[in-house]
Amino acid sequence: MNMNDIIIKKRDCGVLSKEEIRFFVEGYTQGAVPDYQASALLMAIFFQGMNKEETYALTSAMRDSGDRADLSSINGIKVDKHSTGGVGDKTTFIVAPIAAACGVPVAKMSGRGLGFTGGTVDKMESIPGFRTTLSEREFTDLVNKNGLAVIGQTGSIAPADKKIYALRDVTGTVENLSLITSSIMSKKLACGSDAIVLDVKCGAGAFMERQEAAEELGKLMVEIGNADGKKTAAVITDMDQPLGRAVGNSLEVIEAIETLKGAGPEDITELSLTLAGMMVYAGGKAETPEEGRKKAEESLRSGAALEKMRLFIQGQGGDPAVIHDYSLFAQPSCFVEIVSPKTGFVQKIHAKQAGIASQHAGAGRATKEDSIDMTAGLYLYKKVGEAVLEGQLLAAVYGNDEEKVQAGAEELLAAYEIGDEKPEKRKLVKKVIGL
Ligand code: URA
Repeated sequence: MNMNDIIIKKRDCGVLSKEEIRFFVEGYTQGAVPDYQASALLMAIFFQGMNKEETYALTSAMRDSGDRADLSSINGIKVDKHSTGGVGDKTTFIVAPIAAACGVPVAKMSGRGLGFTGGTVDKMESIPGFRTTLSEREFTDLVNKNGLAVIGQTGSIAPADKKIYALRDVTGTVENLSLITSSIMSKKLACGSDAIVLDVKCGAGAFMERQEAAEELGKLMVEIGNADGKKTAAVITDMDQPLGRAVGNSLEVIEAIETLKGAGPEDITELSLTLAGMMVYAGGKAETPEEGRKKAEESLRSGAALEKMRLFIQGQGGDPAVIHDYSLFAQPSCFVEIVSPKTGFVQKIHAKQAGIASQHAGAGRATKEDSIDMTAGLYLYKKVGEAVLEGQLLAAVYGNDEEKVQAGAEELLAAYEIGDEKPEKRKLVKKVIGL
């Protein structure tokens, strides 16, 4: 077998065999296949596409390129949740305690943020003392004891994806369904859970702007997960404006705690209950997703989910007193308030621009090496559809660097669109695929 033949076969619309795909993935990960041949094959795949069998072969070869988590010592059906990335998405901190409170173990590996979307690991580290690096034994013991634990994903999970994604990023080959699916699902499958609930975002702040494209991606990821023997479902959800009112590390954790207390924003609460209901069903603790949702609602009402959050924080070395005393989080030294330039209704808060505003205020990284300001971020007093008077408070931007906070405030103001008519409400949960 040689790479040149494989490239030519795909260039000429051929269907690659499992062996050819594995030859490429293993060869590229180990350095035997050079960047120029890998780039040529990725571009051929980009134009000619891959069928479902090829996509599964690519995903499983990437899954097998590094370590696979062994969660067999954890009792019960382990359910993972993954979001394709959005602005203000703190649902992991809500759905994991809810699922755990309903008897579904959550053993999750998450990443750090890069660019305009935040990362779960960074957000967790805004809790004083919280550790995201645990030994495998500590991790599985905590899940058995408390029902949940979340750790940072190591570089040894699907290293092929790391290399291939970096190459796609600089060769114009990111936006291909099979390549995106194999990238996301290889990591999820290597992380070892028995079932997966995917939150596929669509809209201005999402990777997939059009709903049809998000649905296609969701469907393919569900097929690949199921082909690997994992019960998989996808929910297509709106990411046109930021989720909730808080964007930025500690601000998002506080909003998640408020949601667990039953006092969270409507959109975050709704999405979390939908996802958690599906996780409870996938974990075998409900007969239907609807019954799963009822159980999820009950865990919020009873305080059981909040108690799981307390155990989660304590179990990983964090100070559980933050749940009742938000002043224990690091506090920003400055803030800028932005006011509405006119009277009307908020028409739009461009999600990507808001994410960039938060990043520039200090909450995100431009490169992997950048450090982040845990206190930085946005609070949106007004969201889409809400009425506002000229001069009234729209939002506030926080952080520790006055210049950065000011830059973030200017960007956030530009992300707002105010008009005369009340806009039609966009549907948050657009479609459910699988289960
Ligand atoms: N997220 C990933 O992990 N991979 C992609 O290809 C796109 C989004």
